[in-house]
Amino acid sequence: MTYKIAVLPGDGIGSEIMAEAVKVLYALRDDFGLKIECEHALVGGAGYDAFGTPLPEPTLKLVKQADAVLLGAVGGYKWESLDIALRPEKGLLGLRSGLGLFANLRPAILYPQLAAASSLKPEIVAGLNIMIVRELTGDIYFGQPRGIRTLENGERQGFNTMVYKESEIERIGRVAFDSAMKRGKRVCSVDKANVLECTELWREVMTRIARDYPAVTLSHMYVDNAAMQLVRAPKQFDVMVTGNMFGDILSDCAAMLTGSIGMLPSASLDAQGKGMYEPIHGSAPDIAGRNIANPLATILSVAMMLRYTLEAPDMADRVEAAVNRALDDGYRTGDIHTAGMKKVSTSAMGDAVVAALRAA
Ligand code: IPM
Ligand code: MG
Repeated sequence: MTYKIAVLPGDGIGSEIMAEAVKVLYALRDDFGLKIECEHALVGGAGYDAFGTPLPEPTLKLVKQADAVLLGAVGGYKWESLDIALRPEKGLLGLRSGLGLFANLRPAILYPQLAAASSLKPEIVAGLNIMIVRELTGDIYFGQPRGIRTLENGERQGFNTMVYKESEIERIGRVAFDSAMKRGKRVCSVDKANVLECTELWREVMTRIARDYPAVTLSHMYVDNAAMQLVRAPKQFDVMVTGNMFGDILSDCAAMLTGSIGMLPSASLDAQGKGMYEPIHGSAPDIAGRNIANPLATILSVAMMLRYTLEAPDMADRVEAAVNRALDDGYRTGDIHTAGMKKVSTSAMGDAVVAALRAA
C-alpha cells in the first residue's frame, strides 16, 4: 500500500522548510523503501492569492483523500488587513475543524546539544521532555456567538464564546491519559476553574476519567500558575492537557525552553489517528525567502507522521536519529547557533539530515 501525503507548504518560510522535509521523505522512499507519494496544494495566503480563499476547494478535496497532511505555516503581512474570514489563519483553522483534528500533540523536548541555546539555565532544562496535549477544534477559537457588534450607544463591542461539551473534554482527556501511560504516567490538567465555568466542567470531567486510569496520577493547575511553573521548574511536567486557547499560549512558552521554537513538531489527530503534521512555529515573514529558517521542526513533524499515521516507527526513529546526528556534527541554523558551531542555511541543514540518514 502506498500512502498519499498532502503537502501544503503555505506561506512565508513554509516553502523553504517544506522542501527540506520532502527531501527527507524522498530519501526514505528511495533508500529505505518507504511507500509514499506526495501531492502539493495551496493553503493560507497562497490559497487566497490563487483562489480568493485561504482553503481552496481542491486543497480540501486533496486533504480528505490523503492519508496524512504535512503543513508548513500560514500567514504574512500581505494578508493582515483582509477580513478575518479570508485571512490565512482561517485556512489552518478550517483544516483542523474540517478534518476533525481535535487532538494536538506538542512535544517539548530539549536536545542536549542545544542546552546552551535555551534562555533558561541548563540545569533547569536539561533532560526536559514534556508532552502538551492541546484540544484543537473547540473552545473560544470556534465557539458561537462571536463577532463585533454595535451597542445602543454606538460603541462597538467585540465578543467570543468559550465553550466545551463534556464529550469534547472527555475525548481529549483520554488522549492525554493514553499518552501518559506510555510515558511518565503523570497528567497535569490546566484550567481556570477558579473563574470560568467552562473550565470548572473541564476539571470535573478530567477528574472523572482519571478513575479509568488508576496507574496515572492526575493533578490540576490554573493556567497562570502553569505558565509560571513552566519557566520556574519545567521538569515537573510529564503530560499537560488543556483547552485550545491555553494550549496555544503554553505551547509557545514550552517551546522556548528547548532553545528555539524552530525545533518543535506537532501532530493533530482525528479519532482514527489520521493526522496533520506541522511545525509549531509560524510563517516568519521577516526571514522568508532568505534560506535561513530552521527546517528541523518540519523534519521532526515528518517523524511524528511516520510514527502516528504511517505506522513506520522504525523510520521515525531513523529520522530522529539523523536530526541528532546533524546536531552532534555541529550543524546549526541561526536560531540555534552558539559559539563554535557551524552556522548553516535551511537547505544545508536539510542536506545534513539526509546525509546522516544515509550514513546510518
Ligand atoms: C498555532 C498557531 C495558530 C493557532 C494560528 C496560526 C491560528 O498559533 O498553531 O499555535 O492559534 O492555533
Ligand atoms: Mg500558537
